Amino acid sequence: MRIVVTGGAGFIGANFVHMLLEDHSDVDVVVLDKFTYAGNRGSLTDVSEDEARRLSVVEGDIVDADLVDGIVSGADAVVHFAAESHNDNSLNDPSPFIQSNLVGTYTLLEAVRRHRTRYHHISTDEVYGDLALDDPAKFTPATAYNPSSPYSSTKAGSDLLVRAWVRSFGIEATISNCSNNYGPYQHIEKFIPRMITNRLRGVRPRLYGDGLNVRDWIHVHDHNTAVWDILTKGRIGETYLIGADGETSNREVVEVLNELMGYPADDFDHVADRAGHDRRYAIDATKLREELGWKPRFTDFRSGLEHTIDWYEANERWWAPQKAEVEAKYAAKGQ
Ligand code: NAD
Ligand code: DAU
Repeated sequence: MRIVVTGGAGFIGANFVHMLLEDHSDVDVVVLDKFTYAGNRGSLTDVSEDEARRLSVVEGDIVDADLVDGIVSGADAVVHFAAESHNDNSLNDPSPFIQSNLVGTYTLLEAVRRHRTRYHHISTDEVYGDLALDDPAKFTPATAYNPSSPYSSTKAGSDLLVRAWVRSFGIEATISNCSNNYGPYQHIEKFIPRMITNRLRGVRPRLYGDGLNVRDWIHVHDHNTAVWDILTKGRIGETYLIGADGETSNREVVEVLNELMGYPADDFDHVADRAGHDRRYAIDATKLREELGWKPRFTDFRSGLEHTIDWYEANERWWAPQKAEVEAKYAAKGQ
């Protein structure tokens, strides 16, 4: 089986590629990645000789229709991770989000339509907007779309394109909407790796606003096992929500990181809030659990964070080249 993984040099895509190569010896992987600031060749180098033989990496843009057509024509399935993924960047400049997330998805959909290729679309819980802190509700597949940011609105638009291509053209597609991931190879612009690498550089963690916003954390490996289950057992045309009951406030995350890294829990600063900052996300993954029998493995968040700290400590060469530039961007916004 040959699987094309778009965005396979990014955080979740690279972890997915490693999982495929390690756990599925009958799978060949073709990564299609533009190597934007978020794509990193170093995320795909830690592979055995046998895994290297089953991996090819194409540097290219998913909006390039000819390139995409050629790659999709030889594939059994496409798993589409590639996207501009960071909310803060989408507030600075939405244009690459429109191109990669909307036009890029459209380009892939046309290719899988022509070649009748199985397609799985990776999306986010942010398409549903946010919930109040005291609301007992969680997102379900029936929740109405209500995205807040340029990032989440382009992801919502891309999901709707997939649904339309299923209904109008009969493509064989599934969609998953997952909550916040953490783990190895996550870009240091994102909250958890930014806080860890700040600490390693002697900088206090920085909480946007009051720090009480809640995210529903899931380990990246659990996200990826769910994607595999949906790809291989999911019903065509269906949407599955992926989450592991990990609701935690940003403040609590920083307190745990501080303790694990040997600092007082309350050693952090409050900085300027994000414009339009979503308050809370929460996933109800009942459909995924009951229909496909999926279960998360990394349910101890504290121990997951401990391993993640270890990874960033051991892999400074992977993240250090980007640290100054990332922090300069935040500093310009008082964050
Ligand atoms: P990331 O920013 O770490 O990686 C994105 C990858 O896509 C990079 O390798 C980048 O080079 C590549 N890319 C971007 N534009 C491209 C283009 N036009 N053509 C080809 N490649 C391109 O992102 P991530 O955090 O790994 O997220 C991956 C996917 O998962 C995204 O679709 C995102 O919306 C979704 N998602 C992320 C999370 C999360 O917590 N990070 C949660 C739910 C869903
Ligand atoms: O919910 C899924 C989404 O999770 C994905 O679709 C996105 O691709 C992914 O980036 C993530 O979006 P968030 O905006 O929730 O993640 P981020 O890591 O940017 O921020 C997490 C929370 O931490 C959010 O409430 C903002 C806050 N934050 C972030 C940074 C970078 C801080 O308080 N301080 C910071 O320095």
